[in-house]
Formats: sequence, structure tokens, C-alpha cells
Amino acid sequence: MLKLSVVGTGYLGVTHAAAMSSLGFEVVGVDVDSKKIAQLQSGRVPFFEPHLEELLSKELSSGRLKFTTDFSQLSDCDVHFICVGTPQQKDGIAADLTYVDAAFNSVAKYAKAGSLLVGKSTVPVGTAEKIKSELANSHPTLELAWNPEFLREGFAVEDTLRPNRLVVGVTSDKAEKVLQEVYQSLLKNNVPWIRADLPTAELVKVAANSFLATKISFINAMAEICEAAGGDVTVLAKAIGYDPRIGSRFLQAGIGFGGGCLPKDIRAFMARSQELGAEQSLEFLREIDSINLRARQRVIDLVRADIGTDLKGKKIAVLGGAFKPDSDDVRDSPALDIAAQIHAAGANVSVHDPKAVEPARIRHPELQYTTEIDDCLRDADIVLHLTEWKIYREIDPKVAHGLVKSARIIDGRNALDREAWVAAGWKFRALGRS
Ligand code: UDX
Repeated sequence: MLKLSVVGTGYLGVTHAAAMSSLGFEVVGVDVDSKKIAQLQSGRVPFFEPHLEELLSKELSSGRLKFTTDFSQLSDCDVHFICVGTPQQKDGIAADLTYVDAAFNSVAKYAKAGSLLVGKSTVPVGTAEKIKSELANSHPTLELAWNPEFLREGFAVEDTLRPNRLVVGVTSDKAEKVLQEVYQSLLKNNVPWIRADLPTAELVKVAANSFLATKISFINAMAEICEAAGGDVTVLAKAIGYDPRIGSRFLQAGIGFGGGCLPKDIRAFMARSQELGAEQSLEFLREIDSINLRARQRVIDLVRADIGTDLKGKKIAVLGGAFKPDSDDVRDSPALDIAAQIHAAGANVSVHDPKAVEPARIRHPELQYTTEIDDCLRDADIVLHLTEWKIYREIDPKVAHGLVKSARIIDGRNALDREAWVAAGWKFRALGRS
């Protein structure tokens, strides 16, 4: 049986390591962050991801899964998966490849001759070819493949163990065979297997995320038109979604996309297209990004239209801080961005989230936080529903009416039951619904 290493223990790495262990492989997870590794060794996942902690504990007790900060412990592994982050650069829109470069250097230093290095991180096209030629000089027996990951936060375990496709960028039959051996038990479920060259494998990931971002911004552009023309974007989305060529998923209009992938991936893709002299081809992504950011501003405009332009001293209840439900990830969270902008305008903002309060506090210590919905709503001049957690759909609008100062709500995710809120006496606004 092959022995695997997984380098980088974020959302992607921890899930991949635990999932591969559950398939029966011996796996060593490696990270430079000793605090994270200590948590993982004791069976705790440093972030919220449904089902992952159970899987982690189970695999740790099986003895197949280990975590360490010591890179020399990957020296007996046959395959090394590089799962480190590629955040947006601090002073530009391109991807920061510092962690990718450091991870490949460390792995190459300890990897045994003939082993396979597999990039899973989302990188600008051309990165794999560059790493491959560096390896050819420094460690000619090591081989490189690229195997992009499409997991969604909130469904990470499910998406890893039941992927809708497996894409492998390889330059030899031998590398493809090794990866087929790794994914053998998943392939039994007829998962499509796509062999590609290195640049195509890198591109599949950013193309998929660009398409998803485009779909969301498309429906948010329709929301703007609906507001201008007196239409209802939720009905429009339902109606166009029945066309199987369009499909109904990812047509939920609202405050738009955020998180650690979509925003930075479309920006890095634009930056790379410029380097390639093909910037015109991705010019539309600039508009996708602007539509996305405009939706956040629209909420702030609606707040001002409802309670007055001067927000000083107004109490604003924000339901949701995470970039999407079932996650505690607040990276580029539209909800938190809106909360911070409203606070900066002088309002007194109280943010509720069932899981993301602590990560949110680290990014925006200036905001007030609570894990009690009632505390968040109490005496509010307006309520903003910004992350569509299920618990918010279970709020009784009549009870909530008794808590707030003024019964006004903006549904930034088009997920609440408008009729029920209106019937309970609320002034209800939603993006894209007149
Ligand atoms: C995304 C991709 O879906 C995944 O395949 C890739 O591997 C990583 O990036 P993720 O960031 O976990 O996954 O979130 P996703 O479910 O795609 O949602 C992204 C954002 O779009 C969220 O902020 C979500 O609220 C928003 N969204 C999604 C909408 O605004 N409307 C929709 O209809 C769908």
C-alpha cells in the first residue's frame, strides 16, 4: 500500500489527509504551524467543517494518520500532496506563491528518490511547469503532477470522498498510474477521470471558479435590473433555472460571493492573463468582481434609505458573519465586510454567528459580537440577514418583533419567508425584489 504525505493543514489539507487515511493509506500531515499540528494531534480541527472532526478522531485512532512539523517524516512516503494556501498578494491582485514555493522546496529536500509530488493548491497557470523544471535540475528523480481540488467548505468531506470528477495533470503514464492507485476506491463509483497536461489541470480549477463567480454575478446583475424595473429576481432565477442548459444552482441572488477561493481566484486569473498577454479574454471578470462588490454597497444604501443617511448611534443587528453557512470562514466575507463598513459609518453594530464569532473578532475586533440571536436583535433599528444559516430561517418574526426597536429587515440572501415577516408587521426588503 502506498504511503502518503499531505503538506499544509488548512481546509483542504486536513480533509484530504483524513479522507486518504479513511481509504486505508498511511498518511502523514505536515505543517510549519506547530499550534495547528498540536491541535490536530489531539483530534481537534482548528476550524469548523461538518463531519471532519469525527473523521479525524477515527483516523487518528486507527493509527494510519499522523501529524508533524518535522518534514523529515515524509521521507518514506511514495506520494506527497501539496495543499498549502495561495492567498491574494497584499499589494496586488495576483496570487502569493510564497507558501507553494516553500512547501515544494521542503518536500523536495526530504522526498525519497522516485516519489511523486502532487500539487493540489490553486495556482496561476504555468506554476507547475516552472516547478517541474526546477525539480529536473535539483532533484531529477522526483516527478510532478497537478491534481486540482474542487471541494466546497461545508461539504469538504463529502466532496473529497465522493468527487464529481478527478482531474490529473501528468507528464507520464507512470504518474497517472500512481494517482489511479491512490484514488482506486473512489473510481469504483464511476467518477469521471480526466487526464490532462499540467497547464490544463491548473486551468480547470480557475476556469470552474470563474464560471461559478460569473453565474452568481449574473444573477446579481439581474437583481439590480429587477429592482430598477419592479421585478422579482427569485422568481426570475427559478424560471430560468428550469432550462437544463442554465440549471438552477448558483443562481441565489444576494450580497454575493466571498470566501478564500472565488474572489482571489478570479483576481489572480486576471493578473495571470495579463502576464500571458491575454488580458482581453478575461476582461469580463473585472465586471464580475465589480457586480459582486456592488451588492455589498447596495445593502448599505438600503440601510440608509430605511433609517436615514446618518448612521451615528443607530443600532444595527447583523445576522451572519461567515462567508456562507456551515462554515466559520470569514475570509473576504461579504457579511463581515458590510458590518465593518456600517460600523465605520458610525453605527453600533452587533454581529451574530453560530460558528464564526471568534474568527470574525480576530479580523474585526472593533465590532460587537454575540452568540445569542436575541441579544443581537434587542433594540435594533434595523436587522440585516447576511449569511443564510438555517437557524435564521427558524426565527419567529412575531417574537423577533418584540425585541427590536424598529421592525425593519433586509434579507441579503433571499432566504427568509417574506410573507411570514410581513404578516408579523415587519418592513421587509430584499435584494432584487421590489
Ligand atoms: C468554491 C467552489 O464552489 C469550490 O468548488 C472550490 O473548490 C472552492 O471555491 P467555497 O468557497 O467553499 O467553494 O464556496 P461556494 O459554495 O462556492 O460559495 C462561494 C460564495 O458564493 C459564498 O459566499 C456563497 O454565499 C456565494 N453564493 C453561492 C451566492 O452568493 N449565490 C449562490 O447561488 C451560490
